[in-house]
Amino acid sequence: MKKFKRHLVTSALPYANGPVHIGHLAGVYIPSDIYTRYLRLKGEDVISVCGSDEHGVPITIKARKEGVTPQDVVDKYHGMIKEAFQSFGISFDIYSRTTSKTHSETASNFFKKLYDQGEFIEQTTMQYYDEEAKAFLADRYITGTCPHCQNDRAYGDQCENCGTTLNATDLINPKSTITGSDPVRKETKHWFLPLDKHEPMLRKWILEQHKEWKPNVYGQCKSWLDLGLQPRAVSRDLDWGIPVPVEGAEGKVLYVWFDAPIGYISATKELTPDWEKYWKQDDTKLVCFIGKDNIVFHCIVFPAMLEAHGDYILPENVPANEFLNLEGDKISTSRNWAVWLHEYLEEFPGKEDVLRYVLCANAPETKDNDFTWKDFQARNNNELVAILGNFVNRALVLTDKYYEGVVPELGELTDYDKDTLKELPAIKLSLESNVEHYRFREALKDAMAIARLGNKYLADTEPWKVIKTDPERVKTTLNIALQLTANLATAIEPFLPFTSAKLLKMLSIEKPEWESLGSSSLISAGHKIGKAELLFEKIEDSVVEQQMAKLERSKLENAENEALQNIASQKENVTFDDFGKMDIRVSTIVAAEKVAKTKKLLKLTVDTGIDTRDIVSGIAEHYKPEELVGKQVLVLVNLAPRTLKGIESNGMILMGSDASGKLVLLSPQDQVNSGAIVG
Ligand code: MF3
Ligand code: ZN
Repeated sequence: MKKFKRHLVTSALPYANGPVHIGHLAGVYIPSDIYTRYLRLKGEDVISVCGSDEHGVPITIKARKEGVTPQDVVDKYHGMIKEAFQSFGISFDIYSRTTSKTHSETASNFFKKLYDQGEFIEQTTMQYYDEEAKAFLADRYITGTCPHCQNDRAYGDQCENCGTTLNATDLINPKSTITGSDPVRKETKHWFLPLDKHEPMLRKWILEQHKEWKPNVYGQCKSWLDLGLQPRAVSRDLDWGIPVPVEGAEGKVLYVWFDAPIGYISATKELTPDWEKYWKQDDTKLVCFIGKDNIVFHCIVFPAMLEAHGDYILPENVPANEFLNLEGDKISTSRNWAVWLHEYLEEFPGKEDVLRYVLCANAPETKDNDFTWKDFQARNNNELVAILGNFVNRALVLTDKYYEGVVPELGELTDYDKDTLKELPAIKLSLESNVEHYRFREALKDAMAIARLGNKYLADTEPWKVIKTDPERVKTTLNIALQLTANLATAIEPFLPFTSAKLLKMLSIEKPEWESLGSSSLISAGHKIGKAELLFEKIEDSVVEQQMAKLERSKLENAENEALQNIASQKENVTFDDFGKMDIRVSTIVAAEKVAKTKKLLKLTVDTGIDTRDIVSGIAEHYKPEELVGKQVLVLVNLAPRTLKGIESNGMILMGSDASGKLVLLSPQDQVNSGAIVG
């Protein structure tokens, strides 16, 4: 009956141009790890491959900015990423990288074969060229004015102000970001993969044969296919990447999206001499875990490449996730709006499973989802501590107390005992079906259902009371509670591997096979269990408040950076009337004090000549309260009031700020009366 003999699991290769954050984990690596661990427990033949994606323009930009080589950049982040995955128990069989020798050979040969078979179209196009740097410019290396919104800092591929996708040639007044010079247009030759040629295969394969794919994935593929596919360039003019292995292609490399997916193949090659079995036999089930921004590459471009090459199998499924937001905002590396894994590991040592749990319970499987620290705390305290931890602890502590840690005999079963045990095989079936259909949130609920069942069982049977009236009966109760605990240890392994290992150690049993899940005889009477340890601990308010404050700080820093960038260019014109609406007065500071629990804020009491009022101002890092009293300053008095840290602020003290972030108060040259009008 079984169609597949082995499994190959791939996870999107993360770009080695920055560390990984919770969005990566939730979107790709936790789901793929759960899936892989589940298959391993079932005793299936499975390998899971991943690695760092180390080519592409953003890496060269980062290197240039930091004054290091692209290789330095990828070495640094490859190490960090690999370590973060390992620490979180993401159990790849290999974590490779696309700068490896095997990879460049594999990708190069792949290209060569397609080239020799005549699979590419050669085309000469006009590209921007920087004559000073003697280099063709990637779209990201060109800035200019957006033709749609006039933003003068638009990139050659996109305007980040209005979100429009651009071609470099659309930009008004383009400049090279390398030298600042005006780029010229120059002819260049590239190789294009004619996706249109593969369209019939893709239509049949996806639209007819894979109707079961997740609706978000299927829908995106369908709209691409319905728009009609175009040839896509698979080479670039760049000095970082795998050289195009064709004569006359000096200075050209493979496009990063051509070489990266081949990285899955190279990683498998590095892992096992048997790699061809996994890639070329159609009794292998290939499943590719990715985020939604990767769908077109994995469902359209990579399969077209594989078909053009011949010999290779296609993915059986591509269970792409949507995005995880953070506290209501899109996660952003450049804005430092993220929870970085290496920071979490330092700040929450030993709590890897807590994050795994929260990210799985809240995974963006069908729509974008939000990570909040409050939810993190609530799930830890109300689910991991109160349900899972509590049940395990009661079962083990009572066994220790009544039987010195020796598993008691199972006596006669009541109907209630039988009903409780009967739930286990049902939970197992549901869990399996959910994992096999990539519904990991539901699957986790199934695993947790065993802990809920156990808690309810103990609450209903009350062994701590019954021990006084019917000690024989308690033996059976605790035997059953321990069977549930052992089942739990197996069921949670794919999701919470560290907790599962701790639990097995506490029970002094080996990792059971998946097939034994559901059984009511996982631990035999007479077996001596180990000591109970706490699996989870409560997370206090102060801890999550600190994390939220940390995020708040990065938001403020960003706002400041953005403000600084704005200094460079003049704002839009205003009319005389616009300016006349502002009521600016010379005022005298009569009192100043720090606002408690803030670094930047001072509460200033000013005499505006009209009245005496309070204004909260962000200058505490630049002036001491005592040096301000008596100073004359300029105040915008008719700014609408707003409340900051519980203080109503009525107006704004005008200040000068420069690009270094320094703030200075503005004062009249000579003393005038408070209330003098500025304008
Ligand atoms: N580096 C890409 C990203 O982070 C993913 C590459 S997946 C691969 O979006 F298939 F190309 F490897
Ligand atoms: Zn724009």
